[in-house]
Amino acid sequence: MYVIAHLSDPHLDGSEEARSRLRRITSYLGTFSRPVDVILVTGDLADHGQEAEYAELAAELTSDLPVLMLPGNHDVSAPLRAGLTAYVDSPGEGHPVHQVREVGEARFVLVDSTVPGEDHGLLSDESLAWLDGVLSEPFDGPVFVAFHHPPLDLHHPVMDQWMLRSREAFEAVLTGKRITALLTGHVHNAIVTTFAGHPVLGAPGIRSTVPLPFEPSPADGRIVDTAAHTGFALHVHTPGEPLQTFYRFPV
Ligand SMILES: [Fe+2]
Ligand SMILES: [Fe+2]
Repeated sequence: MYVIAHLSDPHLDGSEEARSRLRRITSYLGTFSRPVDVILVTGDLADHGQEAEYAELAAELTSDLPVLMLPGNHDVSAPLRAGLTAYVDSPGEGHPVHQVREVGEARFVLVDSTVPGEDHGLLSDESLAWLDGVLSEPFDGPVFVAFHHPPLDLHHPVMDQWMLRSREAFEAVLTGKRITALLTGHVHNAIVTTFAGHPVLGAPGIRSTVPLPFEPSPADGRIVDTAAHTGFALHVHTPGEPLQTFYRFPV
């Protein structure tokens, strides 16, 4: 059995509110009788992309567990690389922050779907060619492709401007590849769907939740509900069996 704790969108900004929501999850993970095999954080690590915010995240995630991180639209490549050197292993400098990481029997292809200065996601031709090459390499264990912006419409008038573009080319690269699941964040919702024939599993937003247009709006009129429970996903992989995902909302 191989267990991934999939966290997303902590949006750390030095505030007690953001820190305490992340700590609700890390504290809960610390109570497990069997530690998870890896913690994956799918972007919007910092709220303003500042090095101090990355230092805060690094301090919050100090444990013996392997931790993988990738950028979201609130992140900035250079301070992210500088503040998270112990967690990020990506060739080159600046943008994009692509990574291929192996933890135990699993391989994680961590794709930077961000566009500097923009909120929507996009994969350049260079990024897609790199991804195609990585996914064409032989690998026996489970392969997870993780990125911030999910390739879907949320049917939300504001959020839909900020989703992943370049979907057709991305779909062409992913189709037919051996991939266990696509793991995403950004929409601040636990979400399960498919893309290019693969499962898409989105982690809840640690910092907040985005209600759908037909759900009650937050009392303050914002698109994010900061009073909703924080949460994360547990992906459990057992060789020869379909992946199982459990969502947890620790109080
Ligand atoms: Fe976010
Ligand atoms: Fe985001």
